Amino acid sequence: MPDLDRMEAIVSLAKQRGFIFPSAEIYGGFRSTYDYGPLGALMLRNVREAWWNFMVQQRPNVVGIEAAILSSPKIWEASGHLAGFTDPLVDCRKCGSRWREDQIEGVCPSCGSTDLTEARDFNLMFRTFVGPVADDASVAYLRPETAQGMFVNFPLVQRALRLKPPFGIAQLGKSFRNEITPGNFVFRTREFDQMEMEFFTPPELADRYFQYWTTERYEWYRTLGIPADELRLRPHDPDELSHYSKGTVDIEYRFPWGFGELEGIANRGTYDLNAHATHSGTDMTYFDPQTNERYLPNVIEPAGGVTRAMMAFLLSAFDRDEVGGEERTVLRLSPFLAPYTVAVLPLSRKPELQGAADAVFASLASAFSCDFDVTQSIGRRYRRQDEIGTPFCVTVDFDTLDDKAVTVRDRDTTEQVRIPMTEVTRYLQERLDSTARPVATPFG
Ligand code: GAP
Repeated sequence: MPDLDRMEAIVSLAKQRGFIFPSAEIYGGFRSTYDYGPLGALMLRNVREAWWNFMVQQRPNVVGIEAAILSSPKIWEASGHLAGFTDPLVDCRKCGSRWREDQIEGVCPSCGSTDLTEARDFNLMFRTFVGPVADDASVAYLRPETAQGMFVNFPLVQRALRLKPPFGIAQLGKSFRNEITPGNFVFRTREFDQMEMEFFTPPELADRYFQYWTTERYEWYRTLGIPADELRLRPHDPDELSHYSKGTVDIEYRFPWGFGELEGIANRGTYDLNAHATHSGTDMTYFDPQTNERYLPNVIEPAGGVTRAMMAFLLSAFDRDEVGGEERTVLRLSPFLAPYTVAVLPLSRKPELQGAADAVFASLASAFSCDFDVTQSIGRRYRRQDEIGTPFCVTVDFDTLDDKAVTVRDRDTTEQVRIPMTEVTRYLQERLDSTARPVATPFG
């Protein structure tokens, strides 16, 4: 299927099936903002959980935090965001539209005019006021990245947990940027979810950890279902580097309009700890009691977007094939990302099946994300589950009442097996255990 058709199909499926809705649609929408519906909320949780499991839970030397979204504006002064987190903004004098100068090559994409204003720096941070008085003293910003939460808390986390570099502090959460040109569905939005980790390492290990995290993060996307030919690693040119970076590699995904960033792995050196030490007057060094040395750790940062990753997983999973002479749409999502792991489908609405179906649902729902659907024909219900990526369907039929067994259908092969009701949880667990999931590689 051509890429742009796939994009259109995903945007439509996302809306029809309850993954992603245009926000405030009843009011005509709101400037490229989106709401995540029931299936989108489940899938976002799964993306976050897959990241947290791989980055935090599986590693003895990485811990997680949840920092405030609204915090001291001094953070953004020190980090360089107040002065430097800008995009070059131009206005079209003919039609009044606004663009990022670096994205339009001197021609207004709206009306074709070349009569554009000089570019001026536009700060991407959302400004607000904290407390009842809206004056300069009460200005605060919505965080444009989660990363600074890890830097400003570095000394507290290090001491509280008695951590010795190399160690990481990770965080999942919302960030906000007043993007001039949001778009391409949830690829670029003004409110989005990030998954970031700051890895504090002795300087002599920084280059090796940069390589290590680049490979770890690349493999995470691969294992969760993105094919190698839809991914690439792209080192930044020196003139492209962010103000804090000594070196960055982007993991890029082949979006329908071309390759675009999924995640950046940056060597931030000592930039951030140094900046916060200078601005706050706090000692941000680490004292190594074994060597009696005091130093500023270097930082390697893998920084990705949860919402952007979800979009890539959906695009890669989208497929059409033929089953029983009929075309079907199927999302071949990793079972660890699919909104539902299993759907319980009683063959008919007849009351005799109700008790058995309820019992199967109850036994599965405490272990797995589980849908329950009794509407329409069983064939239609299978198609519906295929379309939302549910890896397993469990059908309760009239034989179930006698043999106390159910039919388990596989989304990808459509094969069906008969399993005793009491064994279904174990069967599904074994299937999940035999499915590839991201596993942390030891460093070395
Ligand atoms: N702390 C470094 C940092 O924030 P970034 O490349 O600006 O780096 C990291 O952002 C990731 O956050 C990006 O790779 C992307 O996945 C996601 N992201 C950034 N801006 C976004 C936006 N406007 N909408 C959706 N995701 C965004």
